[in-house]
Amino acid sequence: MSNAQFLLASLEPTHDRTAFSSGSGPLDRYFRERVTQDVRRRVAACFVALADGQRIAGYYTLASASLLLADLPADIGKKLPRYPTVPAVRMGRLAVDQTFKGLGLGGALLADALERASRSEIAAYALTVDAKDEAAVAFYRHHGFIALPDSPFTLFLPLATLSTFRKTDDNTR
Ligand SMILES: CC(C)(COP(=O)(O)OP(=O)(O)OC[C@H]1O[C@@H](n2cnc3c(N)ncnc32)[C@H](O)[C@@H]1OP(=O)(O)O)[C@@H](O)C(=O)NCCC(=O)NCCS
Repeated sequence: MSNAQFLLASLEPTHDRTAFSSGSGPLDRYFRERVTQDVRRRVAACFVALADGQRIAGYYTLASASLLLADLPADIGKKLPRYPTVPAVRMGRLAVDQTFKGLGLGGALLADALERASRSEIAAYALTVDAKDEAAVAFYRHHGFIALPDSPFTLFLPLATLSTFRKTDDNTR
């Protein structure tokens, strides 16, 4: 594996989405059939990792969201202002093509999402995700995400902790 193997960019109409295959039917169908509509309607932004400058190796989506203050772990919630909701950015979907799994790309896409969310001029307290299964929960926990006490498949990572987030790989540019 050489460095700078993947280019991270916004999804463009010229990118070929037809061959993308993560092994998760719903994530693949969404990417092939719906994502461009969601981007056009501004309900999601989509970013891709390109191998060799053109083949899509992975993607994720981001959108504005909020978390209920009452849903956060008590020790975290008590340090936040007493508004009913806490601003967040939701990574709605994250998938890596099977050909590129296990190379650090999922971690790199996650790091890219965290960086974009924390760079935004619109404040957000955390990046939040809805994990689709136990394996996804384990992936996010591995990266420091915290589960909501009453909804263990919803996890969040406070963006203030980004400086301590260890980018799992730097094979992107
Ligand atoms: C989950 C997914 C995005 C991971 O992508 P990947 O490129 O294979 O993962 P990486 O190679 O970047 O792994 C990065 C780190 O996470 C760890 N990891 C990967 N999958 C993991 C899992 N299920 N549980 C715990 N840790 C995991 C790796 O061991 C690696 O650890 P390290 O940095 O300490 O070496 C990918 O497997 C995928 O697309 N799965 C199907 C869709 C999915 O489940 N999406 C999740 C959102 S719902």
